[in-house]
Amino acid sequence: MKTIDSLGDLTGKKVLVRSDLNVPLDGTTITDDGRVRASVPTIQKLLGAGAAVIVTAHLGRPKGAPEDKYSLAPAAARLAELLGQPVTLAEDLVGESANAVTAALEPGQVAMLENVRFDARETSKVDEERQALAAELAAFADVFVSDGFGVVHRKQASVYDVAQILPAAAGTLVEKEVVSLSKAVTDPARPYAVVLGGSKVSDKLGVIANLLTKADRLLIGGGMVFTFLAAKGYEVGSSLLEQDQIDTVKGYLATAEANGVEIVLPTDIVAADRFAADADAVVVAADAIPADRMGLDIGPDSAALFASKIADAKTIVWNGPMGVFEMEAFANGTKAVAQAMIDSEGFSVVGGGDSAAAVRLLGFDEAGFGHISTGGGASLELLEGKVLPGLAVLEG
Ligand code: 3PG
Ligand code: MG
Repeated sequence: MKTIDSLGDLTGKKVLVRSDLNVPLDGTTITDDGRVRASVPTIQKLLGAGAAVIVTAHLGRPKGAPEDKYSLAPAAARLAELLGQPVTLAEDLVGESANAVTAALEPGQVAMLENVRFDARETSKVDEERQALAAELAAFADVFVSDGFGVVHRKQASVYDVAQILPAAAGTLVEKEVVSLSKAVTDPARPYAVVLGGSKVSDKLGVIANLLTKADRLLIGGGMVFTFLAAKGYEVGSSLLEQDQIDTVKGYLATAEANGVEIVLPTDIVAADRFAADADAVVVAADAIPADRMGLDIGPDSAALFASKIADAKTIVWNGPMGVFEMEAFANGTKAVAQAMIDSEGFSVVGGGDSAAAVRLLGFDEAGFGHISTGGGASLELLEGKVLPGLAVLEG
């Protein structure tokens, strides 16, 4: 993979940097700034090398046209605070404002273009459309640095196509992510335990199928666990359930058994009478969830069981919360997994936007983990063993 050093002397050059600034917002307030913080080292490195930096990024999934609620303004303001210098946000992506702002940019200065997904060509399936936008973006700069690890699985203009127009290299975040995740994925120290959570099995089918040939232990929690419990023939009440995935999950259980992969399911569940922070909640056996209750977290016995399966693992990868951790009453399973990963001497990797946010929101020290990924889908696709288009274009 080409790195920034391969771009040669950057003094006086304009560098287009693709960052992933797709942060969770409450109105215009950033609720977790992890991705903005993660974008800083590359930008600083480029500024230190005498370059001018033009940041391009997306926020959310606008439908190819400007929408105020998806403006990058909060991310630009936070980045300016972290860098300790102004970040000029253009009012558009490749229009009059972007032209003026990038033309006026001096070495040592930082500008940001508005949400790249305000232009429908960014995510177009038509190569020529993406290439046309990529050419307009490329015209602002001399070189391109790909640092938005969270989007390297997307074949999009600002990720994939622009790297084929300008001299391109991976930023330090992409480099670090790939090194750390590869360590877990390619030749993991064993036992290799993977903890999977989050709401849907259907989001993780490819990953599970791949892990059934690679991992030693698969610990399942979160909303997706109820489809596993249903596949075992248990009643899951009004819990989240993907009826159409039950057969697939039965297949996974059979494959795991055949491959000697241990699937660890919760033995108890925190079952609530409704989806609310102050719901009435009781701990029930995983095979006895009352018909009128929904599981919102794994129970205390399960949390201890999961912790014990993490404790002696040499590689632990975690993707997806164990319960509705945003609500105090249903955060214990997620906390137990995070704490067990910190306590374990194995190499621990937190993958996924939600689990990384959970770690920070619940107040854990990020330094206690081997690596916390900024990528959700991207880290999952690496775990799945896929070739990611945004990384393929950075090969030398
Ligand atoms: C993410 O949030 O996982 C990345 O920013 C990619 O966003 P996307 O899933 O909308 O492409
Ligand atoms: Mg996503």
